[in-house]
Amino acid sequence: MAVTGQVMILFVLIHVLGNSTLFVGGLNAYAEKLRSIPPLVWATRIVMLAMLIVHVYLSIRLTLENNRANPELYAVKKHLKATFASKNMIWTGLVIGAFLVYHLLHFTIHVINPEMSASMNVDALGRPDVSAMVIANFQTFSISLIYIAAMIALLLHLAHGIQSSFQTLGLNNDRMLPLIIKAGSIVAVILFMGYISIPAIIFLELIKG
Ligand code: HEM
Repeated sequence: MAVTGQVMILFVLIHVLGNSTLFVGGLNAYAEKLRSIPPLVWATRIVMLAMLIVHVYLSIRLTLENNRANPELYAVKKHLKATFASKNMIWTGLVIGAFLVYHLLHFTIHVINPEMSASMNVDALGRPDVSAMVIANFQTFSISLIYIAAMIALLLHLAHGIQSSFQTLGLNNDRMLPLIIKAGSIVAVILFMGYISIPAIIFLELIKG
C-alpha cells in the first residue's frame, strides 16, 4: 500500500504543477505537449491504473482485517493514537475514487458539459482549449463545490497517508517519526492549496475566460 500510494502521490504532485500552468497562460501548450508523446501518456495511464487497483484491493483487505481485529486484546494501547484522518482513510479514499470517475468523465472523456470541452473548442493556435474548458466549468458553483469537497478528502487522505507510507517503509524511529508526521501534513496542505486554488480563484472570478 505504501509503495502504490507513493507512486500515486508522485502523479498528484506532477498533476498540480501541470495544472498551475493555467495561471501563466500555459495550460494548452502543456496539454498539447503531453498529447504529442502518446507512449508517455499511455505508460502513465497503465502504471497509475495498476497502482490504483492494487491500492484499492489492499485497502479493502486491511479494512476487513481491522474490523475483525479486537483492540481490547492489546495490553499496551498508547501507540493507537488515531486521528480523524487516520480513522476515515477508507471513506476519504472512496470519495477520491468517486471524484476520479467524475473527473475523468468531465475533463478527459468529456461526457459532462461536452459543449465546454476541449474536444469541442480550440484556441487561437488551433489547440484543444483545455484552459477555456477549466475556466468555464469552474464558473459553475456546483462544479467548483464538487472539486473543493473532493480536495478536502484528498487533504485528509494524504495528511495521514504520506506519513503512514514512510512509517511502513521503515522510517519510524523516535527521532524521525515527529518529523515525518509534520512533513506529511505540510505536503498534504501544499497540495490541497495548489489544487483548490484553481476552482476557488476561477469561481471568485479572479480569472476571466
Ligand atoms: C482542482 C483540481 C483539478 C483540476 C483543475 C484538474 C484538471 C485536469 C485537467 C484539465 C485534465 C485534462 C487534461 C487534458 O485533457 O490534457 C485532467 C486530467 C486528469 N486528472 Fe485532474 N485535475 C484536478 C485534480 C485531480 C486529482 C486530485 C487527481 C487525482 C487524484 C486528478 C487526476 C487526473 C487524471 C488521472 C487525469 C487523466 C489524465 C489522462 O490520462 O489523460 N486530477 N485534470
